[in-house]
Amino acid sequence: MLSGMPATPPTSRGVPDTALIEPMMAPDLDEVLAVESRSFADPWPRNVFEAELRHDWSYSYVLRPSLGASVIGHAVIWIVADEVQLLHIAVDPEWRGRGFGSALMARLFEQARHSKAARITLEVRRSNRAALKLYLSLGFQSVGLRPRYYASDGEDAIVMDCVLNDESE
Ligand SMILES: CC(C)(COP(=O)(O)OP(=O)(O)OC[C@H]1O[C@@H](n2cnc3c(N)ncnc32)[C@H](O)[C@@H]1OP(=O)(O)O)[C@@H](O)C(=O)NCCC(=O)NCCS
Repeated sequence: MLSGMPATPPTSRGVPDTALIEPMMAPDLDEVLAVESRSFADPWPRNVFEAELRHDWSYSYVLRPSLGASVIGHAVIWIVADEVQLLHIAVDPEWRGRGFGSALMARLFEQARHSKAARITLEVRRSNRAALKLYLSLGFQSVGLRPRYYASDGEDAIVMDCVLNDESE
């Protein structure tokens, strides 16, 4: 069985018990786009999220602080062969620093374990200190650099990888 255990297992400390992380559905998209536009200089447009909802290999999630509340975060991963690729994660600026990003990451690790993935990979802007710190705290390591990866401004991407342990070995 895959343990999915990074160096430090992700926790959802500080997140209220009422918080919900569920698969993203088409009716969530207006709220997702609102978080998205407040989170990125180059936000994903609606049609990109719609495409993700159609792909068999794509898993998208929304986070609410309680049942019936508006979406305050979302994440998108691809599961291809034995690898999980983290494409996108955001928490609304007003809700950051309270453990919600870690809670979303914990859900992604859970999906990775369920899918028997061997690793999780991602790309992150070199200047994105908050995200880099989050990923490093979860056991991700820098494994490469993609120079001028982001077309909008030519910033480099750091490639990160978290190998999941196999407890059965
Ligand atoms: C990255 C992001 C999802 C983190 O969400 P969050 O809800 O603030 O995360 P958490 O509260 O769970 O914080 C987890 C850890 O991240 C790091 N972190 C979060 N905000 C930080 C900040 N402003 N500066 C430095 N480190 C920060 C810390 O290590 C923190 O752990 P700690 O509080 O124990 O020190 C959020 O900042 C975000 O949406 N950013 C904009 C979108 C984005 O850049 N996405 C990532 C693209 S690769």
